[in-house]
Amino acid sequence: MALWSGRFEEGVSEFTQRFGASLPVDKQLYAQDIAGSRAHAAMLAHQGVISQEDADKIDAGLERIKGEIEAGSFPFDINNEDIHMSIESVLTSEIGDAGARLHTGRSRNDQVCTDTRLFAKKRARDLMAANVELRHALVSQAEKHFDVILPGYTHMQHAQPVLFSHHMLAYVWMLDRDFDRLRAAYDAADANPLGSAALAGTTYPLDRFMTAEALGFSRVIPNSLDAVSDRDFLLDLLYACSVSCMHLSRLCEEIILWSTAEFGFVTLSDSFSTGSSIMPQKKNPDFAELIRGKSGRVIGDLVALLVTMKSLPLAYNKDLQEDKEGAIDAAKTLEDCYRCATGMIDTMEIHPDAMLEQAKKGYLAATDVADYLAKKGLPFRRAHEIVGHLVLLCDKRGCGLEDLSLEDFKAESDLFEEDITKCLDLASIVAARTTFGGTGNSAVKEQLDQAKEALAAD
Ligand code: ARG
Repeated sequence: MALWSGRFEEGVSEFTQRFGASLPVDKQLYAQDIAGSRAHAAMLAHQGVISQEDADKIDAGLERIKGEIEAGSFPFDINNEDIHMSIESVLTSEIGDAGARLHTGRSRNDQVCTDTRLFAKKRARDLMAANVELRHALVSQAEKHFDVILPGYTHMQHAQPVLFSHHMLAYVWMLDRDFDRLRAAYDAADANPLGSAALAGTTYPLDRFMTAEALGFSRVIPNSLDAVSDRDFLLDLLYACSVSCMHLSRLCEEIILWSTAEFGFVTLSDSFSTGSSIMPQKKNPDFAELIRGKSGRVIGDLVALLVTMKSLPLAYNKDLQEDKEGAIDAAKTLEDCYRCATGMIDTMEIHPDAMLEQAKKGYLAATDVADYLAKKGLPFRRAHEIVGHLVLLCDKRGCGLEDLSLEDFKAESDLFEEDITKCLDLASIVAARTTFGGTGNSAVKEQLDQAKEALAAD
């Protein structure tokens, strides 16, 4: 018999029982549910609502149940619908009336969001730690191959040469912002709904600040209706997970491209590659692809909850039971993706020669040649056109800008002198971009220090 069955004459069918149950999902919140109940019972006793003796029995009983769940001997029964009623009914069958007093001044409506908030806080912290690991892997690749040059692209066409370290650090900054978003999701969850009861508060003299402190919440939600029906904190977590998955997907897309025969910029270690069941020669970047693919799932989890929430009237509605599965899935998926990406980046082999070889193609010096003229007083638009002609000439001859003679340059403008060769050297082109945040070696060194400092603080 369900704990709420008093006013019912008939039970639900086996099918609807199963359909309405959330136990298969929310059993993962057992530790949070037990922590919430222990804090509630201690507070009830402190406020004189239940006796200290009952509170002690409840506490010991819950401790025992926690051990049973962890040992795998707890009698989970789908007829108990969710983790809250599962624990409470087993507790009551074990300790009698004291157990039946636990739910005084409480509803599953404030209980479930208390558990979910505690869970969200824990998962946000786990993800922050995994995010830091991945940033370490990227930073160490940037340090190891600091001066390596590769082509920078726009529109997937060769644009200007950049440092490999600069490229890696771009992802470090994305992940740095993801860390901040995860921290914001942690903060959003960090408020106590317990004591809101079903929707309106309760007539018992509950001390919501006491349970907040016991559970480690930094504040108490000031409106009981909002407290039981708000799931913004899960949306915040899902959004943080989605954005970070999107970043990982971009990183993996580049790794997939870089490991093709056409690029040959990197080789993934065997432990992060798979073979083909038919083509003996294949070495596929499956894990990078899988991380790229999993972003779709996580973004789907975010959209699913947003759509579930829209149009929900106050206060609790059963629709809210759909909140947990996607959030649990998104956090687990991102955690696994972080872990996989960390191993993949850590063990990825870089091929500086192949990168440099490609950087020599596609007239990457063109902007600097135009800047050379502009710095000698020619309006930049004019300089741009002149260099366009030089590129056209190279195209026709099938050579690079560095293969042109000084006469070829002078034929387009007599502002060109011997020192134009400096503008054609890739290392000099890169090094000259000394503006803050640019790809110049000195600027990237500064950036690297800044990224490491941010990492050490997180
Ligand atoms: N299993 C429910 C959930 O996950 C718990 C709250 C149910 N409350 C209710 N009045 N039906 O949302």
